[in-house]
Amino acid sequence: IENGYDCWLGYKQIEDEVRREDALRVSSRYAIIGESPLLRTAGKELAVALSAMLGHVELGHLSERQEGKQGGIVVAGVYGSSPVFEPLAEVYDFAGLGEEGYIIHSSEEGGRIYLCAASDKGVLYAVFHFIRLLQTGQRLEGLRIREVPRNGLRMINHWDNMDGSVERGYAGGSIFYKDGRFIEDKSRIRDYARLLASTAINAVSINNVNVHRQESKLITDEFLPDVAVVAGIFREYGIRLYLSVNYASTIEIGGMATADPLDAEVAAWWKQAAADIYRYIPDFGGFVVKADSEFRPGPFTYGRNHADGANMLADAIAPFGGDVIWRCFVYNCLQDWRDRKTDRARAAYDHFMPLDGEFRDNVMLQIKNGPMDFQVREPVSPLFGGMTKTNQLLELQIAQEYTGQQRHLCYLIPQWKEVYDFDTHACGERSTVGEIASGRLFGRERGGIAAVSNIGDDLNWCGHVLAQANWYGYARLAWNPDLSAEQIASEWIRMTFGLDEDLERVILDMLLGSYSIYESYTAPLGVGWMVNPNHHYGPNVDGYEYSKWGTYHYADRVGMGVDRTVHTGTGYVGQYHAPVAESYESLADCPDELLLFFHHVPYLHVLQSGKTVIQHIYDTHFEGAEQAAELLAKWDSLASKVDSGRFKHVRERLAHQAEHACEWRDMINTYFYRKSGIADEQDRLIY
Ligand code: GCU
Repeated sequence: IENGYDCWLGYKQIEDEVRREDALRVSSRYAIIGESPLLRTAGKELAVALSAMLGHVELGHLSERQEGKQGGIVVAGVYGSSPVFEPLAEVYDFAGLGEEGYIIHSSEEGGRIYLCAASDKGVLYAVFHFIRLLQTGQRLEGLRIREVPRNGLRMINHWDNMDGSVERGYAGGSIFYKDGRFIEDKSRIRDYARLLASTAINAVSINNVNVHRQESKLITDEFLPDVAVVAGIFREYGIRLYLSVNYASTIEIGGMATADPLDAEVAAWWKQAAADIYRYIPDFGGFVVKADSEFRPGPFTYGRNHADGANMLADAIAPFGGDVIWRCFVYNCLQDWRDRKTDRARAAYDHFMPLDGEFRDNVMLQIKNGPMDFQVREPVSPLFGGMTKTNQLLELQIAQEYTGQQRHLCYLIPQWKEVYDFDTHACGERSTVGEIASGRLFGRERGGIAAVSNIGDDLNWCGHVLAQANWYGYARLAWNPDLSAEQIASEWIRMTFGLDEDLERVILDMLLGSYSIYESYTAPLGVGWMVNPNHHYGPNVDGYEYSKWGTYHYADRVGMGVDRTVHTGTGYVGQYHAPVAESYESLADCPDELLLFFHHVPYLHVLQSGKTVIQHIYDTHFEGAEQAAELLAKWDSLASKVDSGRFKHVRERLAHQAEHACEWRDMINTYFYRKSGIADEQDRLIY
């Protein structure tokens, strides 16, 4: 526990007498009904958790009469596998549970808890939910829980390379690969799968979307035996494995001269590749593809479009039950900064919107939450709500590339909640991104959410112990986007640090404030990109101003921001539905936090908050840096409540953050003071 390795599954003995009695009353024994690999996992997990928390636990038998036995029994199994679950059908609708839903029910007379589902995977999830109830100190009487996931696909994308590095990794190297091969000892992968299953993640892609030469070979006989071993480990935890593939594999590893999606030999090559993969991995999930994006090959080379490319792969893999996850992160990355017409924000919509309805049923388009690239603040991608006849997946980034690289504390759940809840008005009110990504709004069978992993081989997985909350929270939100940021944080704190009200209050306060604090001392008002090129850490206002990446703020002596309006700007605003488009178009109605994303305004423009833009910049940067220092002071107040291992580690990170926030503050304030010549109303120190 002290080094953070156990994350939220570091079970501790329940010391509190009342809670302990309560728990023993229903769970001093357990019985798993039926036999399957997932049920075996469920049984193992229940045994580990109960014995750690309650001291001892027995495998019970249902035939045993309750009399004469101390304590109650947890009964877990698939509905229909035993008459013992029959009475539950009077209370619950089992038909609607699907493959992953479950029920947790305490018997009327007490002494029994049923963990029941329509499939063994649901039972595994019920087991982890029950363990969570124990860990977080919930009462176990009168439980009437029915859970069904809101997103079918709940996926983690790894950007791991086979040389052992992780693209945008901030927590050490890969847990999968080293020196061009798979790591021999797979125990860490098993521990990882277990953590994922505890939060009901059901899909994982294990290599970088930028597929280089070595990783291109993952779909060949050279590496498929290894991939199959890893898939087998994930399978025991109900997780399907996916691979990122090189679109030009026919050339790179197939020895062919073309990757034209309409070429019959190319299509045949992929059919064979799919057949080979499924010989090793019968439940292989499918391909993740980054094509025609940031120098990756794609169908454009052959004058074809993304639907041509995706459908060719989809046809190859469909007979085996696999999917193609095709990414929409497509834009011109060789832009001339002098060109004021091209707008990177428009690109994904411009490329994919005309193709709506042309993709096969087993294709899902994976769309980043915003139109640019995981900035601290962006509007929601207008592709959500734009496309109505295409399966869509929402892509988030748990890895904190632009949000402090796991050296700064930045609890991202509030940001993601805003994305999920954003109303696109595609079909009137309540056309939220969450409803679209899940597939519900447009009646699509496939849908869900994927996110870039923040883990690596650091002992504590995430570099920053508190960054585990983003990993945990992403998964919880994927299951149920209605959970609040606070609910998720408090669950995570209890499971990770134990039950202590003061400790919970302090960490909760730190987590919940952290995104807004980070935003306030970094790039202001939705403008983004004021970071050092390449590694993206630390302030550099003009770092991307004269670059080819399409990432500009256009600050001059009068003002700043990007005019993306329909009337005078790039027209990007026109990609949204009314009334969203109207509000972004209007200088008066555009939300302050996105003002510079949509408009170019003078520094003396008055925001809805009543402050001028320049004063807002000064104020937020002074306040943000102060608040970053307070985070450290808050953590220090927990010195006696957190073990010294995790305490010291987090303290170091927070101390760095406090210092680095001052660097941000001073660079940003100084830059805009020098540009504008406008003094701070409060006359604070600017250089
Ligand atoms: C960002 C990130 C890259 C990554 C890319 C992607 O641009 O910096 O490292 O490859 O996103 O999502 O494909």
